[in-house]
Amino acid sequence: MNWQPQAGPQEKAIRANFVDEIFYGGGRGGGKSWTLCYMFLMGVEKYGEHWKGVLFRRTYPELDEIIDQTRKMYRDFYPDAEYKVGTHQWQFPNGATLKLRHIENEADADHYQGMAFTFVAFDELGSWSDLKAYHKIKACLRSGSADVPDKKIVSSGNPGGPNHQNIKKYFIDPAPEGTVIEGEDGMSRMYIRSLVTDNKILLDRDPHYINRLKSVGDEHLVKAWLEGDWDAFVGQYFTNWNEKKITVNSYEIPDHWPLFGAMDYGEAAPTSFGLYTVDYDGNVYRIAEYYQDNASASQHADNITKLIESCPFTEGRYPQTIYCDPSMFTKRRLSAAISHSPADVFAEHGLFLTRASNDRITGWRVINDALIKERFFCFNGWNDALMRTMPALPRSNKNPEDLDTHAEDHAADELRYAMMHVYRPHKPEDEKPYEGTGQEVIDMMEQGWGTRKGRYALA
Ligand SMILES: Nc1ncnc2c1ncn2[C@@H]1O[C@H](COP(=O)(O)OP(=O)(O)O)[C@@H](O)[C@H]1O
Ligand SMILES: [Mg+2]
Repeated sequence: MNWQPQAGPQEKAIRANFVDEIFYGGGRGGGKSWTLCYMFLMGVEKYGEHWKGVLFRRTYPELDEIIDQTRKMYRDFYPDAEYKVGTHQWQFPNGATLKLRHIENEADADHYQGMAFTFVAFDELGSWSDLKAYHKIKACLRSGSADVPDKKIVSSGNPGGPNHQNIKKYFIDPAPEGTVIEGEDGMSRMYIRSLVTDNKILLDRDPHYINRLKSVGDEHLVKAWLEGDWDAFVGQYFTNWNEKKITVNSYEIPDHWPLFGAMDYGEAAPTSFGLYTVDYDGNVYRIAEYYQDNASASQHADNITKLIESCPFTEGRYPQTIYCDPSMFTKRRLSAAISHSPADVFAEHGLFLTRASNDRITGWRVINDALIKERFFCFNGWNDALMRTMPALPRSNKNPEDLDTHAEDHAADELRYAMMHVYRPHKPEDEKPYEGTGQEVIDMMEQGWGTRKGRYALA
């Protein structure tokens, strides 16, 4: 077969060979993986043994597609090129190599520190949850033995998915497609859009491809994949999140308003803790937060205690309870005699935890209900992690009713635990007031604000 880039974006990518960072994509089926594989070949002849490449996917099974593509393509150019299954590496007769690898996250990227590559590719960059691994690996882009001016990092991806917002910010928004921009680190970068309609080879072979794409059912997602539209709201889950409406000036909480905590727990990953109160109308306020990664249970408990005790709006009052991630009660064996759960450690610090309901879909609906009815508020300047992460959270591609769990969802999970327990989705204006004698109403009130079914009205 005669392998040729197709007219349009594929040719454009080849001509952009002088650019350091290329992001190629936008649509499904546009020939992205093909282009990445081809761009590696361009350096093989030119640089021989000095041309060292690595191509990443997020998971190992996803690499199969690339292995197939390269098997079909590379032997046509180099009949003696060999794919070594054991080392997952292409070996070219002139000494060039291409490793095919998967990395899930930033920690996996550490294994590549100190290595030198002249070609790095990330296929489907949108499937990672952030650009941390990407940027870490970028530091490996150097020529070990000879000057290789064409060395580059090329990635592909579509709108949607956990990395949508990061890609949009880094590659899509700074300049119109096809424009070279200069990064702060001195590297040039460019976004090249390719759509399935640019891939005539695929459409000739499979004329029903577009109809099959349409049958995915999610109208926004299909539109984004067909048109490469990064502004379609496919990426954002909380479309009702409106920072202006949510943010309120901080004030001292009356001492009879109940205080609650909620927590999503992590040790390497961040722990997100929020301090909440509820007013008499059932509006929920997130007063302050603690958000910290890389700490032990006891360090987190210490820091949260400090936050609670020094919070200027609550006179250091402790929350009645802290709704948390149910997994915090899982015991770990510390020695033959002792096993401990993170919840035990928190209890030793005087922080008492309650298992929160972990029904995700209901939890997201409850949050959305509060957002639509404008019954959830955050104190200005005290809730930065929640404010930063909520608007960026993407929908899951698998289940549009859920969030994508690869995204930075710790503050959102914590909010979900809180709202499931402290927010009552209800419409006060539709509620029937309590009827009855004065004493009956007082009896009902004494059952507590949390169990009331309607507004109090004295007969
Ligand atoms: N220039 C080309 N020559 C031959 N086949 C191509 C070319 N570009 C794309 N294709 C084929 O089109 C199909 C879709 O391309 P692919 O790179 O897998 O798309 P994407 O990664 O964007 O989903 C694949 O079968 C691929 O081999
Ligand atoms: Mg592909």
